[in-house]
Amino acid sequence: MAIISSKKQPPEPGKQPKQQRKSAKASPPQEKILQPETVKDEQGKKEESIRPQQFRDYIGQKDLKDVLEIAIKAAKFRGEVLDHLLLYGPPGLGKTTMAIILASEMGVNYKITSAPALERPRDIMGLLVNLKPGDVLFIDEIHRLSRMTEEILYPAMEDYRLDITTGKGSRARTRSIPLSKFTLVGATTRVGALTSPLRDRFGLVQKLRFYEVDELSQIILRTAQLLKTLVAEDGATEIARRSRGTPRIANRLLKRVRDYAEVKSLGEINESVAAEALQLFQVDPCGLDWTDRRMLSVIIEQFNGGPVGLETIAAATGEDTQTIEEVYEPYLMQIGYLSRTPRGRVATPAAYQHLGFKPPNEQMSLL
Ligand code: ADE
Repeated sequence: MAIISSKKQPPEPGKQPKQQRKSAKASPPQEKILQPETVKDEQGKKEESIRPQQFRDYIGQKDLKDVLEIAIKAAKFRGEVLDHLLLYGPPGLGKTTMAIILASEMGVNYKITSAPALERPRDIMGLLVNLKPGDVLFIDEIHRLSRMTEEILYPAMEDYRLDITTGKGSRARTRSIPLSKFTLVGATTRVGALTSPLRDRFGLVQKLRFYEVDELSQIILRTAQLLKTLVAEDGATEIARRSRGTPRIANRLLKRVRDYAEVKSLGEINESVAAEALQLFQVDPCGLDWTDRRMLSVIIEQFNGGPVGLETIAAATGEDTQTIEEVYEPYLMQIGYLSRTPRGRVATPAAYQHLGFKPPNEQMSLL
């Protein structure tokens, strides 16, 4: 099944409501508290209910919102569909949410899918022919599309046309089917892994950045209100500080702290309740977990601070190289604990200090 989720906007007054499409959910992966990947479980609906649906509810990413608001206004003014949009950045920063908001602000329907669900050419063909004018098609992990699926997308994106080839060699015939004009929103954590023909077909290419602590605090307070949980400002700040700049992690930590406060009858979540709870979950004051600390201590203790290769770090921590590159490293680099050099990864003096090691002098001169 190629569609993971879809939503129709409410019909305009006086128009007949159309039949709802069925949606299929992915199987639940194991939860890791600080991994920003989506956790699709029985709480999936609750996750949806805390997701902002309009720009005015969306906290942070001001530059991106400014760009998109202009693009939306211009498209609406001209009565055109929105240009194709590529969103990139670390997981959990709100790429899917942004696509849903775009559809809502444009007053169109959306369909959400992910590249691994589009294995066979007929998966993407089925999705494309069923799009209605203006629809938003969101493809997550777009860097993982197969070559064939990607080639089907080129004329679809450029000329809203589906080319179907039948037969082989001299008997090959291509038939073109017109498609509704639509907006493709692609999301990726690895923009460099996209082929240039695909990347070049997006009119807008935008990066999502990590959130500031005050933005995450506001997100936590908003979510707490929706979950009817009492959180003091200093409690929200404490959770925000440990959320790795990532709203998905912030909301997940909030729920774990809420469990802790409820079970221990601690009442309102303040700074000390949040710190106590998160210490129990081994999330340190900077938001680092066991794997982050292990990565840094391996570099420091076994490799004299680096440089050391990614494969070696993966072997030492038991994580795969892709998870290290896409999940762990971006945040460690953002907070200045790790740097990537052509010869490998290097732990910075700040990382030494955080883990209680004395930075060697040579290390200082390398950086
Ligand atoms: N929940 C998750 N991300 C959010 C954001 N950027 N703004 C408000 N609530 C959120």
